[in-house]
Amino acid sequence: MKLDGKRLSALFPAAVVAEEAQPALLLDELYPEERAQIARAVDKRRAEYATVRVLARKAIRRLGVAAAPIVNGEDRSPAWPEGVVGSITHTKGYCGVVAAKSSDVRSLGADVEGAEAAREEIWKHICTETEHAWITGLAEDDRGQVVKRIFSAKEAFYKAQYPLTRQYLGFHDVEMQLDLDGGHFEVQLQRDSGEFATGARFEGRVVVGDGLVISALTIE
Ligand SMILES: CC(C)(COP(=O)(O)OP(=O)(O)OC[C@H]1O[C@@H](n2cnc3c(N)ncnc32)[C@H](O)[C@@H]1OP(=O)(O)O)[C@@H](O)C(=O)NCCC(=O)NCCS
Repeated sequence: MKLDGKRLSALFPAAVVAEEAQPALLLDELYPEERAQIARAVDKRRAEYATVRVLARKAIRRLGVAAAPIVNGEDRSPAWPEGVVGSITHTKGYCGVVAAKSSDVRSLGADVEGAEAAREEIWKHICTETEHAWITGLAEDDRGQVVKRIFSAKEAFYKAQYPLTRQYLGFHDVEMQLDLDGGHFEVQLQRDSGEFATGARFEGRVVVGDGLVISALTIE
């Protein structure tokens, strides 16, 4: 699998830069306040945390912005440097970051998951009743994989909306429409969230390849 950021950046507008890499224990690259956040973490977590920060600084430099620490708040959301918006994701063997100038886009959400099917026990936690009814109409072999795409797309939306609203949203607080062939999705809010009212719609992309589900959502 080639990790050059192109697959990720292809799902976002041109103003967005993307970086990808395999996780590595790049602890020397961290600022002291970042290192402090993972002092008691296991190596897997430290590697993911450090790698995405190295990638984020690469992306930020490409935007012409000076490198700075990216520390997570108590709500676990990352604080991006002034003038930058971004999103971070990691899964087994994969780290990815997207970033853009806040003068170009308002917020970004990226999510990458292993492409294996979601277990049937969790379908109802992820899907609304309407989504679940749609899933059960699909070919049996496809259902779990489609639920995984819904899961990832909802997480990408969550990461994009959170910096603007500071609101927690559950999986049933949004409803998706997924175009399985084109890889586009539309998510519709089922409750108010900050500036966004019930019924607000947002568009994103979700693609599957190289064993990964990759989701992207931009709020412009
Ligand atoms: C925050 C969350 C979306 C992260 O997704 P995940 O698949 O567990 O993990 P990922 O590797 O893709 O993303 C982790 C990164 O997300 C970022 N993140 C965490 N909380 C965030 C938030 N509230 N907003 C934006 N980004 C956030 C962090 O940078 C984190 O990486 P880091 O800790 O190394 O800095 C997930 O843990 C969560 O809390 N989900 C519940 C809410 C939800 O998804 N609702 C769906 C319906 S809208």
